[in-house]
Amino acid sequence: MADAATLGQEEADPPVGVDRATPLLSASGISKRFGAVQALDAMNFDLKRGEVHVLFGENGAGKSTLINVIAGAIQPDQGALVVDGKVVRFRDVQDARRSGVAAMFQEFSLAPDLTVEENIFLGAEPRRYGFLRIAERRARVREALARFGFAIKPTSIVSHLSRAEQQMVEMTKALLTEPRVLILDEPTASLSQKETESMFGLVRHLCSQGVGIIYITHRMKEIEAIGDRVTIMRDGRFVKTVEVATTSQKSLVEFMTGRSFEQFYPEIPHDPGEVVVDVENLTTANGCVSQVSFQVRTGEILGIAGLVGCGKSEMIRAVFGLEPLRSGTIKVNGRNVPTLSPGKLLEMGVAYITSDRRNEGLMLLRPTKENLTLSSLGQVELSRAGWLKIATEKSFASRLGERLRVRPLDLDKLVVKYSGGNQQKIMIAKAMGRATRIFLFDEPTVGIDVSARVEVYGFIKELVAAGAAVVVVSSDLPEVMNLSHRLLVVRNGEIVDDVGGQDISEARVLHGFFGTKDAASLH
Ligand SMILES: Nc1ncnc2c1ncn2[C@@H]1O[C@H](COP(=O)(O)OP(=O)(O)OP(=O)(O)O)[C@@H](O)[C@H]1O
Ligand SMILES: [Mg+2]
Repeated sequence: MADAATLGQEEADPPVGVDRATPLLSASGISKRFGAVQALDAMNFDLKRGEVHVLFGENGAGKSTLINVIAGAIQPDQGALVVDGKVVRFRDVQDARRSGVAAMFQEFSLAPDLTVEENIFLGAEPRRYGFLRIAERRARVREALARFGFAIKPTSIVSHLSRAEQQMVEMTKALLTEPRVLILDEPTASLSQKETESMFGLVRHLCSQGVGIIYITHRMKEIEAIGDRVTIMRDGRFVKTVEVATTSQKSLVEFMTGRSFEQFYPEIPHDPGEVVVDVENLTTANGCVSQVSFQVRTGEILGIAGLVGCGKSEMIRAVFGLEPLRSGTIKVNGRNVPTLSPGKLLEMGVAYITSDRRNEGLMLLRPTKENLTLSSLGQVELSRAGWLKIATEKSFASRLGERLRVRPLDLDKLVVKYSGGNQQKIMIAKAMGRATRIFLFDEPTVGIDVSARVEVYGFIKELVAAGAAVVVVSSDLPEVMNLSHRLLVVRNGEIVDDVGGQDISEARVLHGFFGTKDAASLH
């Protein structure tokens, strides 16, 4: 196994006989069709040694498909891949890994019932590690996790970890193959500031050793922070490759969408009415939330910001009756939550939009129209039956889908066949289909592109103007700061700051995150 000093080091130079100017990897004329969808259409891409090359494009543009081809996960219909000047044809992901191309995929490949160490070694070469005793294996995994700066126990069962932690395991697994080309598909989608920083540190370290990184993100800030070049894709095609240093955010968005945006975050009028959610001294049974009190009123957006880990998601899960309580009270419309099931809360006009769309939010193997019109909760399905006859399922679903620009909108298509961002849009659209007054959003814009974000924010604005109460839990700091009328800052399951409108600033929120003692004086 490589240690920190040697990881990727011998790749700083091209192999003997290969010119320095030869790209580390190039893909040319790559096409791939899925049924009626031309996901990639003669796409071109090249990667230099030691660069971070960002792939940028709207949801469904073909980014994941391209990296799936590069990483050997799918076979292209046409086109060629060249690594270090040699044409390669990867049979599968293992084959690509042997040639030094490893990916951390958007949807993880971890076995949920196995431990962290078992998962990490599942991806490793058996001849290298097969003979290791458990204690030794554990020590190596612990050492690798520590080296990459990830605080995770090797013996934890993967399904018990948060999404961010699972991502770290996936990353560790990819890094241990000592790749020369590392592909990261939205690696920070569920990480927050601090984890993102350490991920960036790791990426820079790898680059300094000559590893080429293909990086997919929808976050403009990240492109600026970490990218060297950006290739923009639209409808499966190559649009342009530009240098980050000489390209504005505005022009990137224009290349991507073919149009420009004047204002990203809408002005949302604050018109607080009655209290509809009232939480007092809440402590959850698992201890993740401790002694928390807050209220949500109609006509306002309450933001909840904090680092990934115990706390902020659990606060709204508890409001939706999904977390057993140890002490304290939660009232929704004056009624006690522990006595109300999630199904009952839905009937009362409460929607919870989970951050875990794959396991909780969507029925992946069912057609889109069913996902849009029915809730996955059985009770509601029955209670909506009469209503569904009135508004025909199909026209209703297509209105919802169009509203959030699900593309290409095909109501009979299984949700699993949509790109990641489009799945997220389907889940949000689903929540719009009911007469709902209280919206609990957990990471609402994970993985969705700039244009759809503007739609989601516009949608939240309309909800608030119509008198809804909205809670947004988000680790995307600009998002939660710009949308919220009031912002709760959470650290280790406790509310450490409660900031109103004009007083919301990045410095103040960060001080809350990290516990700097003069947080409250930073107005
Ligand atoms: N297995 C599949 N079966 C059918 N269609 C697919 C499949 N995988 C991808 N597609 C389609 O190919 C197109 C490109 O999808 P892809 O996942 O590459 O987009 P993306 O750029 O990664 O989007 P996002 O930003 O939402 O992740 C989309 O229209 C998608 O619906
Ligand atoms: Mg994708």
